Order: sequence, then C-alpha cells, then structure tokens
Amino acid sequence: MTPQLRESRFLKAVRREPVDTTPVWLMRQAGRYLPEYMEVRSQVTFLELCTRPDLAAEVTLTAQAALGVDAAILFADLLPILRPMGLNLEYHAGEGPVIDNPLRTAADVDRLSEIQDIQEMGFVFETVRRVRADLPGDCPLIGFAGAPFTLASYAIEGGGSRNYENTKSIMYGDSGAWQALMDRLVPTLIRYLSAQAEAGCQVVQIFDSWAGCLSPSDYRRYVLPHSKRLIEGLPEGLPVIHFLTGNPALYPLQREAGGDVQGLDWRIDLAAGWELVGHDVAVQGNLDPVSLFADVDTLRDRTRQVLDAAAGRPGHIFNLGHGLLPTMDPEKVKLLVEMVHEMGGDGGAA
Ligand code: CP3
Repeated sequence: MTPQLRESRFLKAVRREPVDTTPVWLMRQAGRYLPEYMEVRSQVTFLELCTRPDLAAEVTLTAQAALGVDAAILFADLLPILRPMGLNLEYHAGEGPVIDNPLRTAADVDRLSEIQDIQEMGFVFETVRRVRADLPGDCPLIGFAGAPFTLASYAIEGGGSRNYENTKSIMYGDSGAWQALMDRLVPTLIRYLSAQAEAGCQVVQIFDSWAGCLSPSDYRRYVLPHSKRLIEGLPEGLPVIHFLTGNPALYPLQREAGGDVQGLDWRIDLAAGWELVGHDVAVQGNLDPVSLFADVDTLRDRTRQVLDAAAGRPGHIFNLGHGLLPTMDPEKVKLLVEMVHEMGGDGGAA
C-alpha cells in the first residue's frame, strides 16, 4: 500500500489514530438516488451493470467524486456469488433479487457447490483494478461480501423475507445441513474477499444485513462461529468492517465474531453502541438514513448529535445506519458529507 493511502483519514480512523476531521462514506453511495447512476443503469440490466467492469467502475468512481467522500465502495452486489455456486439468481424490476431454485432441504444444500476457481467472479476483480487505477491516490477502496448468514438466507428463501421461516427451519432443525451450507459458504467468501484485496481493495466490509432477526443466543450458536471463521481466514493486515442491522442486543457478539471496525445501525445511540462493542475497536455509523428527508437545519442537528456522541474519540467513521434510499435528494446527500467534514473537526481533531 502506498504511504498516501496508509495515511488517509479513513485508514487512520480504522486504526483509531487521530484525524483532522471525521472521515465519511455512505452505504449505497453508488445507487439510484444519483442521476449519474440512473443514466448508466437506464442502458443495461442491474446484473449486466454488476458484471461489466467498465460500467461498474464508472459508477463507483462517479459516486465518490460527486460526494467527496473519504472512501469509495466497489460497485457490485451481495448475491451474484451465488450464481457460480449453482443458484439461478435474477433481479426482477420492483421485486429485487429472485432465485427460482432455492435450497429448501438437506439434499438441496448438497447441490450447492463451493467455488473452487474464484476467477468465476473475475469481473469483480477487474472492476477493482480499474477503480483503483483511476481513484484519487489518497482514497481507499472498500470491497465487500455478504456474511454467511445473510447469503444463506437468500439462498434458502429465494429472495427477501419477512420471517425467514425456511432459513430458521433448516438452521434450528437440521444442524447437519446448516453446517454443510456454512462449510461451503465460508471458504468461498474467504477466497472472494481475499481476491478483492489482492486486486486493490484496502478494506472489506461484511454485510450481515438480516442477522438482526436472531436472538443473542441463536446468533451465538448458529452464526457467530461462521462469521468468526470467515474474518479469521482473511489475509493478515486487511482491515474488516463488520456490519449488521436490526438488533443492537447483538453488538457485543458482532464484536466477538471479529472486525476492526464495528458497523452500527441507528437503533442505538452511537455512544451506547460504542460502549457495547468496546472502545478498543473503531465504529462506523450511525445516522438514521431517513434524517435526509428532514430540512437542512434538522439534518445538521442530527448529524452533530452523532458526531458529539463520538466525543472526539479516535476511531469513528461517519456513515448512515443503513443505505441511502432511491428517493433521496443528491444535493442533500452532498451537503451531509460537507457537514460531517466541517463539524467533525470540532471535537475529533488531533
Ligand atoms: O453501497 C454501494 O454503493 C455499493 C453497492 C452495493 C449494492 N448492493 C448495489 C445495489 C452494495 C454494497 C450492496 C449490498 C447489498 N445487496 C445488500 C446489503 C446491504 C444492506 O442494505 O444491508 C443486500 C441485502 C443486497 C441484495 C440486494 N441487491 C437487494 C435486496 C436488492 C434489491 C433491493 C433494492 O434496493 O432495490 C439489490 C439491488 C441493488 N444493489 C441495487 C443497487 C444500487 C439497486 C438495483 C437497481 O439499480 O435496480
């Protein structure tokens, strides 16, 4: 890694070193709220956009430049990795992802194959190389993947779900099938994230977006060991952001599973969330995304509250508690980034 990248505001915060002002990036920053994204997206399907390195690199770079954020996140999606494992993933307009051959039984799990040759996802690594080549030299690039539980829930339900009844049936009722599924996902994810890092990502984020549907004891039993194996299997020195949403009672366990930075959603005050994960790790978050629909003064007050809750402690990366929404005003989103940079210097300075 170049010294310029190593000394970037974002990577300093990851290492809990003092910074001139709070670094910020936003989940789903390259998304439908941005006219530049819609322009590219109007010409291709979502899956084509994910698998075309020229276009995926373009939307990654455009979002970083438009917002002035302190890190770029690779444009890709959580789910395409399931295709070379044997699942028929498609994205239907208005419905989101759909898999027409989901895993419902132990026999179904057996037909899921571990990816041996990770180059089947080569389009992602090519996107990383292109983005890295064109990104400002002091701007880190974040790679990502779904956590084993969240990927399993899509593979089993075949799409989004409200109650996860199929996933929980297998998880609670058939420990052999659950273990077999985790044993295929975890090594695949280790190879996938390691290859992203090798291609030029400085950090990776693991999204366990749906793990919040579990109690702490179920998370500890069915999820934590597998997320931990994944994180421990990543290359030495590659910083990991570990993010889950929907259940702050899981934060101490999220920490136990691992990660250099713990992502917090907005359902807890940042100060309380930091206590729960411990002050000896960095945190990322956690403005309620819907704050972006409020007037500018309210948005500023709410942004200041999040910054104040960090209390000038090194190791805070500002983000939303979850992703940007398609109906958000891009000008407000840019303003939010400016506000963080302007106010983050007040308490967070070295
Ligand atoms: O953050 C970024 O800008 C990087 C790109 C990114 C996307 N998806 C692009 C995307 C990232 C990091 C993701 C992660 C992702 N994908 C998650 C976890 C994130 C979270 O919110 O916790 C999940 C659950 C998915 C699966 C997924 N992809 C769903 C459920 C959907 C449909 C729902 C929706 O928002 O439309 C997608 C599609 C998707 N992924 C879009 C984008 C920009 C919109 C697709 C479009 O352009 O039509």
